[in-house]
Amino acid sequence: MDFVVEPAAPAGGTVAVPGDKSISHRALMLAAIAEGSSRITGFLAGEDCLATLAALRALGVGIERRDDEVTVHGAGLRGLKQSAQDLDLGNSGTGLRLLTGLLCAQDFDSVLTGDDSLRRRPMQRIVTPLEHMGARIESRNGTPPLTVRGKRRLAGIAYELPVASAQVKSAILLAALYAAGDTCVGEPAPTRDHTERLLRAMGADIEWSEGRVRIRGGQALHARDVQVPADISSAAFFVLLALIAPGCEVLLDSVGVNPARSGSIEILREMGADIRLENPRFLGAEPVADIRVRSSKLRGIRVGPGRVPGAIDEFPVLFVAAAAARGATRFEGIGELRVKESDRIAVMARALAGLGIRVEESPDGAVVHGGTLAGGTVDSGGDHRIAMSLAVAGTVAAAPVRILDVDNVATSFPGFAALLEALGGRIATAEGQTA
Ligand code: S3P
Repeated sequence: MDFVVEPAAPAGGTVAVPGDKSISHRALMLAAIAEGSSRITGFLAGEDCLATLAALRALGVGIERRDDEVTVHGAGLRGLKQSAQDLDLGNSGTGLRLLTGLLCAQDFDSVLTGDDSLRRRPMQRIVTPLEHMGARIESRNGTPPLTVRGKRRLAGIAYELPVASAQVKSAILLAALYAAGDTCVGEPAPTRDHTERLLRAMGADIEWSEGRVRIRGGQALHARDVQVPADISSAAFFVLLALIAPGCEVLLDSVGVNPARSGSIEILREMGADIRLENPRFLGAEPVADIRVRSSKLRGIRVGPGRVPGAIDEFPVLFVAAAAARGATRFEGIGELRVKESDRIAVMARALAGLGIRVEESPDGAVVHGGTLAGGTVDSGGDHRIAMSLAVAGTVAAAPVRILDVDNVATSFPGFAALLEALGGRIATAEGQTA
């Protein structure tokens, strides 16, 4: 499927974006191994989280869902059962990596796989520390499918992550729940701490501070209701819309503003963005706020490597902001973007070039030269976040933009096109691969 986006003059409005993907995955998995039943509200009913939900059901967990409300009947730490089929996590790196951590301590074997994109993504980064703990995992040259062997005794480890990755950290923490002794993980830069917050809320003995975490092994979790905030990574598309569409103002309701996730707001503010966080409060263990954004004149800046983990999923949005800014924006230390759902540096560079924007690419960086967005046909590379970033770019472009291969938008943001329309954008979906 393709998007066809017409130039428009969106006035904006108030919008509720769907629940946080990272927290929805974690709430399902931790509730699945807790004692008792947990009710999750604001759950993201996108394909990625639904794949995790289906995998947990296949592992014998009782789960009921009505739209964005899910009740999970926890099986306890030792209550999961062998799945009769391979666990297919679709497009979801979070689903596959975190579940691998959980499954390497069970007394049965599991096979985890996914779509073409996921089967190309690097898994050695989880296999190495989990094997240090005593797990046995077979892969196809470090990529899925992964066969996780059961009946292993795990022991706690002290491990320094070579790359800043919340998925790797979380996979280790899930395995650590089953290990003998303590596990300590150090990160080269702080990453999202949703797993830590939820583990503590469910009664686990866990301590963490910037870039370090320690958890005790062999602990039971207690069921707990979870209210999932709106996803800041989905909100980012409408933050971008408000900023680059003249005269636009958008208010985003109850968005998660965990400090390890809100780096894009700081970066955009430094570029000159008028973004205000209103009504700050907590939803359970997570900080939230309403985000008000007004159309702004953006300027190019340097974004250094230290700012990457806190904005890791927002770089497609930041590339479009840079394209609409005055001057050049230099992104440094963004090599991790090459192993996301697509090679996000290459796919964004090609797409922006197709809309008349000059982008210089290097192995772990890019320089985006601000300019005027033209119309054209561009390829999202099957990447949901790139498809949505380009749809916003198309809204302010000089002529229509056709965006190829957008089906995966449903992995993280069902209803995206309808919300863009509600704010004044003009977007249609079309079958077919060529304009
Ligand atoms: C996620 C962590 C990040 C992020 C991904 C979700 C998570 O991945 O890009 O979309 O939920 O833990 P990495 O841990 O690979 O950086």
